[in-house]
Amino acid sequence: MYEIVKAKPDHEVKYTFPTDFWWGSASSATQMEGEANKDGKGPNIWDYWYETEPELFHNKVGPQHTSDFYRRYREDIANMKYIGHNSFRFSISWSRLFPNGFGKVNSHAVVFYNNVINELIKNDIEPFVNLYHFDMPLELQKIGGWENRSVIEAYELYAYTCFELFGDRVKKWFTHNEPIVPVECGYLYGFHYPAVVDFQKAVQVAFHSMLASAKAVQSYRKMHKTGKIGIIINLTPSYPRSDNPEDVKAAHIADLLFNRSFLDPSVKGVYPQDLIDLLKKLDYMPEIQPGDLETIQNNTIDLLGINYYQPRRVKAKEKLIEEGSPFLPEHLFDHYEMPGRKMNPYRGWEIYEKGMYDLLINIKENYNNIECFIAENGMGVEDEERFRDEQGVIHDDYRIEFMKEHLKWLHRAIEEGVNVKGYHLWTFMDNWSWLNAYKNRYGFVSVNLDKDGERTIKKSGYWFKSVVSHHGFN
Ligand code: BG6
Repeated sequence: MYEIVKAKPDHEVKYTFPTDFWWGSASSATQMEGEANKDGKGPNIWDYWYETEPELFHNKVGPQHTSDFYRRYREDIANMKYIGHNSFRFSISWSRLFPNGFGKVNSHAVVFYNNVINELIKNDIEPFVNLYHFDMPLELQKIGGWENRSVIEAYELYAYTCFELFGDRVKKWFTHNEPIVPVECGYLYGFHYPAVVDFQKAVQVAFHSMLASAKAVQSYRKMHKTGKIGIIINLTPSYPRSDNPEDVKAAHIADLLFNRSFLDPSVKGVYPQDLIDLLKKLDYMPEIQPGDLETIQNNTIDLLGINYYQPRRVKAKEKLIEEGSPFLPEHLFDHYEMPGRKMNPYRGWEIYEKGMYDLLINIKENYNNIECFIAENGMGVEDEERFRDEQGVIHDDYRIEFMKEHLKWLHRAIEEGVNVKGYHLWTFMDNWSWLNAYKNRYGFVSVNLDKDGERTIKKSGYWFKSVVSHHGFN
């Protein structure tokens, strides 16, 4: 078997992690299951968008087949086990379980998710299950998706059904993955369906998603289940260009809109007053019904998943706003390109490892040091085939470097008392990435689309195996 890192005695390990640290990776249903219209699954917004506008997707590859986890989950879980996973996050496809978003449960979906959960447990891998990962069932989007309050009721039924069906074995639940993303991509910047530009709708969608999350937490607690429930939020630390008060204010506004709009209500049960004041001043408050804020206040989370990819660098507004252009957050600040920044050129995202430490310290200091873990961190790279050797292994040294440098900062955060319990890479195997489809690859395991989806473990997978077995690295 290919061995990448020579085994080292434990006393030589420089960055040691707790023996019960959660090592693993994250994924989502639409991005890896495939069989998108088989076994009774209903269409979601991605299936529909691809059907109607395939040219929007990289190489016109849609979500129909993705990485075939639906059929190959046993082989994939065996690979997870082999490279050292003790935990794995996946999402349930809402439209697989409820083809119309509500109503009758699809029994094929129940069989599939039971099989996956049981197979993970059999392999000593704890299932972490997320409910909503950008995949609104089409029938519910037809009535407005998260814009429509009645979708919250459909989501409550979906969440309750999942807890009921799988909650005897799943002990870590998450209500949403990155709830700000459908808001910004679907209602401001055009990367997700319905791809409209409407700040008022964006705010309403954000509020309804948050309320839905609180209602799922409420329902879980009422069921007296023994596990934990949380949410997964992408935190992008906002750094001002300078100490100039105008730059600092710009960074604060970005932080309120993109981070604290979900972080504060999820963890503290209340929205930041500055955010409320800002939305009132702009005249973009969402519709809130009596009792909603109490529901949010009384149903905060147990566990916070944090996705960290990149920082957000911000400066005071300098660019002119085009007259008549629809309102966007960028009317309040400008993005700032820090000179000398390190970039992942394939994804166009800055790599700033210390950002992980900064956001963890913020959680410790300002969010009661809530139990948390890094739920996603990763590096998407194009054309990894060029790094494949004769043995068939892709030498993704850049990914090893990426993980190492982030883990060093995570390690420091643990030393300084942050209650951070694990690290999950995005993602286990190469997956379909929304509009980017299979352009950039993120996995520990390569999926060769030219060879019927053949799986091969990359160098990073072997490296990870060694890290887990030594509880750390040098
Ligand atoms: C996260 C999402 O935002 O980033 C994943 O939870 C996504 O669904 C990942 O795939 C990487 O982003 P992308 O757009 O390159 O796939």
